Amino acid sequence: MTGHGIIRRYREFLPVDNETQIVSLNEGNTPLIEASNLVSALGGGFHLFIKNEGLNPTASFKDRGMTLAVTKAAERGARIIVCASTGNTSASAAAYAARAGMTCVVLIPEGKIAYGKMAQALIHGAQTLEVRGNFDDSLELVRALGEREDIEIVNSINPFRLQGQKTAAFEVCDEIGNAPDMHFMPVGNAGNITSYWMGYKEYMDSGKSSSKPRMMGWQAEGASPIVLGEVVKSPETIATAIRIGNPASWEQALDAANESSGRIDCVSDDEILDAHRMLARTEGIFVEPASAAGIAGIFKSHSLGEIPEGSNVVVTVTGHGLKDPGVAIDNAKSKSKVVNPDLESVLSAIGLG
Ligand code: F0G
Repeated sequence: MTGHGIIRRYREFLPVDNETQIVSLNEGNTPLIEASNLVSALGGGFHLFIKNEGLNPTASFKDRGMTLAVTKAAERGARIIVCASTGNTSASAAAYAARAGMTCVVLIPEGKIAYGKMAQALIHGAQTLEVRGNFDDSLELVRALGEREDIEIVNSINPFRLQGQKTAAFEVCDEIGNAPDMHFMPVGNAGNITSYWMGYKEYMDSGKSSSKPRMMGWQAEGASPIVLGEVVKSPETIATAIRIGNPASWEQALDAANESSGRIDCVSDDEILDAHRMLARTEGIFVEPASAAGIAGIFKSHSLGEIPEGSNVVVTVTGHGLKDPGVAIDNAKSKSKVVNPDLESVLSAIGLG
């Protein structure tokens, strides 16, 4: 089973060799898009690049880590992969398991994952369990299941997940020619910010880049344990992907922020929704609400004067907007109109009648 994807491209930085049977859906190599309209709307002064991870095979960044986690699980002969998820990890695990001919079991919080993500888990044939609890409860159950030899956990507590995800930082450096000055992204279970920081450090150590960015992580206000410095027992946010109260990579995320002179902060659901709509309207990029937390973070940081004039800023948008059509339809704040099948009705409906 072969493919292209991140393992082939960045083999020298990953725990694989020439014998490795790669399980890939051709993930990675996602676009980095300059967002000048958004910067103009903020009054200019810096360069903003959007790393669009929603354009991965299952429409989120999770595929980068999943290709390696599933490749390594298959290599050691595991037949079953399992994960807890707010929706994207489960979608990705289900797809890669299907490709590898493995069984996939996903534990998701009952009623709290976006419609598109549920569709993905089910259509790829994952055994889908809705837990009467939240993501943190589900992850605890998964840790217990992982004690069994025949089961491989593919949450980001599996170190291969973070190894795979660090390749996004390599791609950013390869594209810009060096590391950016600042890197913004949403934070949930805190694996991704940990991965990027690992990637930026490794690229600099290997001489492929000559600097590292300040890492700027954004939680949702109602699910901001790292900002508060304590576990949130009942996390709540419209951005269900980051509705997490006790992140697995909490310490590593704090290290990334501190070592890089960055920080981890939070944004409100209203700020997330404004950013969600504004990005779609000004740049034509449709993301899911959690991804808009990083964009909202840029607005906040900019308003606090934290983004130096002339700097290169990258923001990772982590998942595609079609994952969560319900929130998009509500947040569009405009409705479709029904018209009669004649030109007059159409012209009148669009204000040209
Ligand atoms: N954005 C999206 C779209 C996500 O799905 C997630 C996490 C994050 C951001 C946060 O990334 O956890 O590495 O800090 N989703 C996980 C899941 C928890 O189960 O799909 P993180």
